[in-house]
Amino acid sequence: MFTRLRLPDRLEGERTVLRRHEPANLEVFKRWYADPEVVRLTRYQDGPMRPEEIERFFVARVLGPGSLTFAIHVRASDRLIGTCAFSQLDGDNGSALFHITIGEKDCWGQGYGGEATELMLEHAFERLGLHRVGLSVFEFNERALRSYRRVGFVVEGRAREAILRDGRWWDEIQMSILEGEWRARRAAHRAARRARPIEAGTT
Ligand SMILES: CC(C)(COP(=O)(O)OP(=O)(O)OC[C@H]1O[C@@H](n2cnc3c(N)ncnc32)[C@H](O)[C@@H]1OP(=O)(O)O)[C@@H](O)C(=O)NCCC(=O)NCCS
Repeated sequence: MFTRLRLPDRLEGERTVLRRHEPANLEVFKRWYADPEVVRLTRYQDGPMRPEEIERFFVARVLGPGSLTFAIHVRASDRLIGTCAFSQLDGDNGSALFHITIGEKDCWGQGYGGEATELMLEHAFERLGLHRVGLSVFEFNERALRSYRRVGFVVEGRAREAILRDGRWWDEIQMSILEGEWRARRAAHRAARRARPIEAGTT
């Protein structure tokens, strides 16, 4: 089904640019994944990854051959603010899992993650030929849930009380978006954009 599994060198959005990671990004990566707030939102274990674990992960999964991981940069300043990836690419069934971390906390909630996710979905459906992209998110991660919903992911299930955090149990929520849903949303957005000047002219 897939002819080109590699990611291109870059994907450009209005405010973000996704680029291949460079070896020098490791130091920043280590800082992100040692941060307790980032760890709380992203990791099944309730503690930071050890620096050597982060390095092993970075070398094998981020830089390694066949990696489908991108560094997220702010377009205007080129600042490196996060990372996003597809994993578990299933060629027979046309699916993958999506992961994203904006590691620079001052950049949370400014739309960067949403745009990076949109760029990855466009790549998944337009060029990789995927049929579905899934993800999982902890119930308490409201910012992530909102960001994912905004770009079209829908909740499809939950692993009840799968996560023990802050002294209580939380569900792990599964979300996904299908190619047909993504195309319908894109068509609706384009139609809304085309309609806007006419509406403005009639008022
Ligand atoms: C999850 C993440 C990728 C989202 O990217 P982002 O750039 O911060 O999010 P966006 O700005 O695109 O969207 C955030 C949404 O949450 C809302 N939001 C912002 N802060 C919030 C908060 N503290 N609580 C709830 N919602 C919040 C925003 O208003 C926005 O919703 P809206 O578009 O409906 O107004 C990013 O915050 C991140 O990497 N967080 C840390 C790691 C993480 O949680 N990764 C995901 C693991 S599944």
